[in-house]
Amino acid sequence: MNPFNAASAGGIACAFSFPALPMIGILIVFFSAPANTSAELPGSNQVLRKIVFGSCIKQDLPTPIFYTMAGEFPDLILFLGDNIYADTEDMTEMRANYDRLEANADFRRLRSGFPIMATWDDHDFGVNDGGADFPQREASEQEFMRFWKVPSQSPIRTRPGVYDAQIFGPEGQRVQVIMLDTRYFRSPLKKGEKRVGGPYVADDSPTKTMLGEAQWAWFKKELEKPAEVRLIGTSIQLLPEAKGQEAWGNLPRERSRLIRLVKETKAGGVIFLSGDRHWAELSCCREQTPYPLYEITSSSFNQIHPRGTPTENRFRTDERTYHRENYGVVRIDWSCDIPTVTLEVKDMEGAIRIENKMTIGDLQPN
Ligand SMILES: [Fe+2]
Repeated sequence: MNPFNAASAGGIACAFSFPALPMIGILIVFFSAPANTSAELPGSNQVLRKIVFGSCIKQDLPTPIFYTMAGEFPDLILFLGDNIYADTEDMTEMRANYDRLEANADFRRLRSGFPIMATWDDHDFGVNDGGADFPQREASEQEFMRFWKVPSQSPIRTRPGVYDAQIFGPEGQRVQVIMLDTRYFRSPLKKGEKRVGGPYVADDSPTKTMLGEAQWAWFKKELEKPAEVRLIGTSIQLLPEAKGQEAWGNLPRERSRLIRLVKETKAGGVIFLSGDRHWAELSCCREQTPYPLYEITSSSFNQIHPRGTPTENRFRTDERTYHRENYGVVRIDWSCDIPTVTLEVKDMEGAIRIENKMTIGDLQPN
């Protein structure tokens, strides 16, 4: 079966075989003129069983991993930010960078074949490690909405920032997807001495924010909605405490606030998804949490971490990290008495590098 069936407009250009893909030995035929369209999001009653995600795309580098991801036949794909490296205040340049990704046939086939939700991180926001003081944030948001084809009636268009949420599936099988915006409202970070890992130090100031009050209020309302599984996309890592480079740990009050909010709203089924780091890992925190909170980090789609040494993370579930091209998978098996959730990091060939399985019962407040 051709993973790009839904995007099969145009004439046959060439054929490839990916023996290590799930459909071993199956010929993948792909086409020369993929449609420049976006697959529609699943309906509100559609049961999601497989969600694929990742982050960090150098728009000028090849993206063969998108073939592997298409071979997963996901119900939904999440792009967690740094979807291009623009790093510019010039919106003509920003659009040109988006156009380069759009010209990537792999990306176009993926987008026309499978539904996508997206948020941004610093490089597609417009400035490395940037936040609310980026002068072009409003214009950049317009470019984000244009590229991701945000519908005219979407709530994203009615408010500042790109945060969004959807619930898919009927009662008993609901998956809520919450995509946070960690850029538009974020206060300036505090710098310390330059060292390996980055220049930032923890800042406990009560005036500093990650999400801004409007997004915090919206987020609380979303967590109060009923759902069996909640996938919360945050472009930067939440649970790992290491400061230096960007992470929620640079604003520890905000990190604690998020964990406290999950507790206060009694929201079950929460799993955090993150990117940004150019490596992949799985974290689990049991401190001050209502139940074990898992975070699966996947990055990058098409870059390799130059240093190859991950920052210390005492919440890492085991010693495994993965530093080559990767994507994440969330698989939900609704057929069990107590449904199970499997978290996976997969490599370019679709082989599992990191995995963990739990039941929905493991993710419920006492
Ligand atoms: Fe980033």
